[in-house]
Amino acid sequence: MKEQEIRAVLDSIKANQMSYKASGYGKPMLETALVDDLARYECAGLTARRARSEDEVGVERDPIVIARGEGAFIWDADGRPYVDMGACFAVAAYGHANAELVEALTTQAQKMMHGMGDVYPTDTKVTFLKRLAELAPGNLNQALLSQSGAEAVETAIKMAQMATKRHRMIAFESCYHGLSYGALSVTGHSDAFKAPFMRRICAETTYVPYANCVRCAFGQTPDQCGFTCLRHLERLLRAPSSGCGDVAAVIAEPVQGRGGDIVPPKGWLKALRDVCTRNGVLLILDEIYTGFGRTGARFACMHEDVVPDILCLGKAMTGGFPLSAAIATPQVLRHWPLNTAEAIHTSTFLGNPMGCAVGLKAMEILERDQLAQRAAKLGDWLLSELRRIAQARRDIIYDVRGKGFMIGIEFADKDGTPRTDLALKIVDEMRDHGFMLLPSGPWSQVVSLSPPLMMPKACLEAFLEVFETCVLKIRA
Ligand SMILES: Cc1ncc(COP(=O)(O)O)c(C=O)c1O
Repeated sequence: MKEQEIRAVLDSIKANQMSYKASGYGKPMLETALVDDLARYECAGLTARRARSEDEVGVERDPIVIARGEGAFIWDADGRPYVDMGACFAVAAYGHANAELVEALTTQAQKMMHGMGDVYPTDTKVTFLKRLAELAPGNLNQALLSQSGAEAVETAIKMAQMATKRHRMIAFESCYHGLSYGALSVTGHSDAFKAPFMRRICAETTYVPYANCVRCAFGQTPDQCGFTCLRHLERLLRAPSSGCGDVAAVIAEPVQGRGGDIVPPKGWLKALRDVCTRNGVLLILDEIYTGFGRTGARFACMHEDVVPDILCLGKAMTGGFPLSAAIATPQVLRHWPLNTAEAIHTSTFLGNPMGCAVGLKAMEILERDQLAQRAAKLGDWLLSELRRIAQARRDIIYDVRGKGFMIGIEFADKDGTPRTDLALKIVDEMRDHGFMLLPSGPWSQVVSLSPPLMMPKACLEAFLEVFETCVLKIRA
């Protein structure tokens, strides 16, 4: 979008503040009808934070129904624009309806919409795999593709088990790796995700504290740190009585996303790599959230020159088409048996050519437009502005942290008691002012920002202005 058009949308957001309020001003017709149908035709438990099921009507907070997007904006069914401060789950890194991505997608669709997965590869898949290997760190150069992030995680677990002939996994408290059964078996984020399904979830995972220096599990301050959490992990790996024998791999997010935008201290990831190497276990890095520029480097592990044994990718890899990858070193994959009859791991849509075509274009845009560098620079500025705003509300803002365009503002009392109520109120208020955000953290106490990497500075400035007003006036 041209600068003038961006300004015009921002002006219309400002001018139409009243129309955002779902309650009190009456909901426009189109969206109301769609939300009624949603309540009727989709599992009521699915749409997050949906306030009603089929037989309940008139509840204040129905979800917004998104009708279209362009650049950093999305529009609801009744034509109201929002600034997308979360890039729709950190996916739309290159902006919504990016013309180059759309063209890549349509060109491929006209040529070949669907291929033969693992049996006969498409040319587009081969080209995509090659480029992915070129961009991946170190000798991570053989990938297995799938659709969702959770599938990439499950593939990585299979790779690790196959390579080590061991089964136990170590994962981190508050980590999020997806919600399908295999991915759930290494997800520590919330017991609520697992509780109904416990009997089918593999129990062979040990959870250890993450490098959360704001809420250190070992009660240490950052100056005392010395990576006590990693010493704890190493003790577990070495003590025969810890129940931690048989470990195939440690799985980690370089920055925890859904866990609350938690940024480990400098050097932690490298030290984690060393612990894994010293103890002969593999390191799986889940960069489904952090990958492709989000934290200000192409991959977050590159900030510390760390190369994992297996890297999981998804989300921004295509900017919107469901495609994910588990990419590993040849040393790991030489243990994967050759496919003589049926492949032991595949799926119908594996390496879908449209996903590969749009992924190739997305990687080109990321590098050409230096979007990671942009996120690093603007992210630093955004973080410092948010810290300035937080100064005035030290009574309710416990921490402001982030890396690149992955930022969290944690709401808690001074003694650390999470203030979920305030974080959710800010999310609601911001939406009522035309800014779309989501909460994160174990108690949903963190207001999370993961804007498109191309988000114009004018949008960020407009966001800061409204955010400051909301934060200053919110009652503790
Ligand atoms: C770090 C991480 N891993 C895995 C996933 C799961 O990806 P998907 O929702 O595509 O299955 C997510 C999703 O948010 C994620 O943030």
